[in-house]
Amino acid sequence: MLEIDNLTHVYGPGSPNEHRAIEGLKLSVAEGELLCIVGPSGCGKSTLLRSIAGLITPTGGEIRVEGELVRQTPGNLAVVFQDYSRSLFPWMSVADNVALPLRRRNMDKRQRREAAQEALESVGLEGAGRKYPFQLSGGMQQRVAIARALAYRPSLMLMDEPFGSVDAQTREDLEDLVLKVRGHHQMTIVLITHDIDESVYVGDRVVVLSKAPAHVVGDLRVDLPGPRDQITTREHPDFVHLRAEVGRLVRGVPAQATSA
Ligand SMILES: Nc1ncnc2c1ncn2[C@@H]1O[C@H](COP(=O)(O)OP(=O)(O)OP(=O)(O)O)[C@@H](O)[C@H]1O
Ligand SMILES: [Mg+2]
Repeated sequence: MLEIDNLTHVYGPGSPNEHRAIEGLKLSVAEGELLCIVGPSGCGKSTLLRSIAGLITPTGGEIRVEGELVRQTPGNLAVVFQDYSRSLFPWMSVADNVALPLRRRNMDKRQRREAAQEALESVGLEGAGRKYPFQLSGGMQQRVAIARALAYRPSLMLMDEPFGSVDAQTREDLEDLVLKVRGHHQMTIVLITHDIDESVYVGDRVVVLSKAPAHVVGDLRVDLPGPRDQITTREHPDFVHLRAEVGRLVRGVPAQATSA
């Protein structure tokens, strides 16, 4: 689904402010996988995501989505950004926000409205279509952003710290929502988070990035018994072990044992 080879990105090359954000990053993601990427603050996670989404042109290396070299935003891709307050259009109703990207699909108005309603239902917001974003709580607005990505039926969904700005309870609800929708819709998800516990809780696999310039320093498979549950999964010995392992890798401490 996604193949990244020797990715390098330098901001302001040759300038006094030159910053090497990513260097020699290699990563592949299989179809249907839910991959979490964690790494220290400012290491280059969003730069990586923007490169995959074709929003910036990396200075080196190759990214392929479904075998196609990324030169602009791939048509089968949706992105959920961290800042929901800036990702929804305030002058559009919730339903219109969700239906907007469907204009790129070959769908008439009625089909777009139905798909939007269905996506809102799958995030538990079936009654909110006529409302405006400002009339919803932060967690609800983030669910609208997720519904918009789902309605588009992407084969690859990129999420950049999607639950960064909501309270702890809402965050857990949204994590479970992601697990639920990925069970219903066949898609590949790449989720960036700085939350180590979250990465192990939602991921099939966790990739750890180094400090800048970012490259892969750990790649762990998460084999936890399903269905995952906020209480029992988090106290499972494998969960406790994996989160310690990921924590060491993020902090640059040598791993005690490899689980991948
Ligand atoms: N447009 C830009 N121009 C110059 N430098 C940039 C630009 N965008 C990001 N950077 C720098 O690149 C580095 C990586 O930024 P990036 O946003 O990718 O990090 P991140 O891992 O997503 O951080 P966070 O954990 O805070 O979300 C940072 O040092 C940042 O200052
Ligand atoms: Mg970021």
